[in-house]
Amino acid sequence: MASNRKVMVLPGDGIGVEVMAANMKVIDWLAKHKSLDFDMSEGLVGGTSYDAHGTPLTDETLADSVASDAILFGAVGGPQYDALDFSLKPERGLLTLRKEMDLFANLRPAIVFDALVDSSTLKREVVEGLNIMILRELCGGSYFAEPRGIDDQADGTRKGYDTNAYSTPEIERIGRVAFDLARKRNGKVTSVEKSNVMYSGILWREVMTELHQAEGSDIEMGHMYADNCAMQLVRNPRQFDVIVTDNLFGDLLSDCAAMLTGSLGMLPSASLGLPDAETGLPKAMYEPVHGSAPDIAGQDLANPLAQFLSFAMMLRYSFGQSEEADLVEAAVAGALASGKRTGDIMAPGCEQVGTEGMAQAVLAEMDKLAR
Ligand code: IPM
Ligand code: MG
Repeated sequence: MASNRKVMVLPGDGIGVEVMAANMKVIDWLAKHKSLDFDMSEGLVGGTSYDAHGTPLTDETLADSVASDAILFGAVGGPQYDALDFSLKPERGLLTLRKEMDLFANLRPAIVFDALVDSSTLKREVVEGLNIMILRELCGGSYFAEPRGIDDQADGTRKGYDTNAYSTPEIERIGRVAFDLARKRNGKVTSVEKSNVMYSGILWREVMTELHQAEGSDIEMGHMYADNCAMQLVRNPRQFDVIVTDNLFGDLLSDCAAMLTGSLGMLPSASLGLPDAETGLPKAMYEPVHGSAPDIAGQDLANPLAQFLSFAMMLRYSFGQSEEADLVEAAVAGALASGKRTGDIMAPGCEQVGTEGMAQAVLAEMDKLAR
């Protein structure tokens, strides 16, 4: 029987490499103590793939990724690739994976750990106990819709343009995921667009309203303009449960939500496709929301916790291993409670550690919790 536990590991660039190396220690721990066994392969993506093969994603790595049950991804990008042609930029590797595998549902949970309440730039009373889910549409909108490009104009000037387009089925399928998520959470969805300005937003609101009537009457749904949502996220983020929104607004709002939790270094994500006809599992990729942070790469400074929490999401969503996922999440909470902090979440009275030190702190908590 073919293994249905194939994991493709793509560390990528910059701090992606370090946080993934740290993640491997967590995986090794689970292999040793919980008989976790994945059939793992590793590949290059982004700038490291460009350096080795002249492309941010080879056909072979794409094929291996498509054939896997889950991808564990680090981060891509770096200033040394800024001048490359659009099609060769590190980000294209990531975007090609999302698009080719049709990973349209991007779950970005923003959870404030008790130990980090005071690391947020927002006041304790605003963020304490926060647990919201940003659901970002990941395969459409201005990231992919045509036409897009840079054209030379007759008058000698140039014009750069993108298209924000959404079709009824694209909105319906992400809307359904939003309702499903809300059912397992607090039963509330906020649908976010700019129907005051954009046609794609008008259709988004209409389709979500119809879908809600037809399939989501058990869910409380509200609508919000994206600019207002950004403001509400920093004013009173606990009013939200699930926020469902398009690709570009989701990119912006999830960075904003990340800071509520103390640091961009804390936010994990899962990108899911439709369930596979054979295995019933969705195609899936798990990645921290943060980027490759070239300014701190290679210095043992990066916070590996978003990577660990992305791995926990993989255990939960792709492999149904909620016990192991709980263990990793509890160990992260425990490491924070013990006062260990990477620079991005450092607070008075805490002990600053590097990537490796934080990994060791999490492993020590796993030892304790498993006793
Ligand atoms: C994200 C990132 C990516 C995006 C970049 C790296 C292409 O910012 O996952 O949020 O814009 O989607
Ligand atoms: Mg982003």
